[in-house]
Amino acid sequence: MSIGIIGSGALGSNAARAFAAKGLDVILSNSRGPESLAGLVREIGPHAKAGTIAEAAGADIVLVAVPWVHIQAALHGLPAWNGRIVIDGTNAVEFLATDSPDRNEASNPLAAYGIKAIDLGSRHSSAVFSEFVPGARVVKAFNHLDVNVLPEPETAGGKRVLFYSGDDVAAKGAVRDLIETAGFFPIDLGTLDVGGPLAGLPFGTLATLNLVKI
Ligand SMILES: NC(=O)c1ccc[n+]([C@@H]2O[C@H](COP(=O)([O-])OP(=O)(O)OC[C@H]3O[C@@H](n4cnc5c(N)ncnc54)[C@H](OP(=O)(O)O)[C@@H]3O)[C@@H](O)[C@H]2O)c1
Repeated sequence: MSIGIIGSGALGSNAARAFAAKGLDVILSNSRGPESLAGLVREIGPHAKAGTIAEAAGADIVLVAVPWVHIQAALHGLPAWNGRIVIDGTNAVEFLATDSPDRNEASNPLAAYGIKAIDLGSRHSSAVFSEFVPGARVVKAFNHLDVNVLPEPETAGGKRVLFYSGDDVAAKGAVRDLIETAGFFPIDLGTLDVGGPLAGLPFGTLATLNLVKI
């Protein structure tokens, strides 16, 4: 099984470290092209390689790990998804530049964290995300934790919990297997409209909750 990763920053690189450590093959991609990822793939080792976005998107399971505001640009113009599995690792937040006026905006409850919630109206983020990957089977996962802990799935005598949710039972099963193979403890939060908002940043009740199953 191959895993493609679109976006190789904090989330993409740490997910790749976790997958590769268990012998899973990953193709990393970003906006600047494979050459810019040479150092990262060297560090991760033989199970990682750099590719174009289209090459990553052609893998059996594709993790999307780009900032919300770049999803459209990253996924634009890719071949048809044809029912393949896409993991939505994003959160509907905007990272604020250090000189952004929103950092001092009293009406932004997240200003202190340097982020701002993106207004999606009454829709949940994976419903919006799914429109960027038409025909894919979307599973929400890998989005609820500080990604710096991902390279250490086994900790404190147990397994770190990862939540997942989705509307396609078989796709969820495949992502559950992936989570388990990577050494985490998977917890099914149900459908996208239920599990997505529960575990999604910035306001999900389970977001950032770092649980370990003993
Ligand atoms: N950081 C966390 O702790 C955390 C936790 C959970 C979920 N998330 C979610 O994960 C997503 C990524 O966050 P991050 O912290 O990993 O961001 P990041 O460190 O800034 O990395 C972003 C990555 O996305 C790539 N990218 C940007 N525009 C692109 C495009 N048009 N095409 C292809 N790749 C593009 C960047 O590539 P270039 O550098 O080449 O532009 C970079 O590799 C966000 O949705 C975030 O909410 C983050």
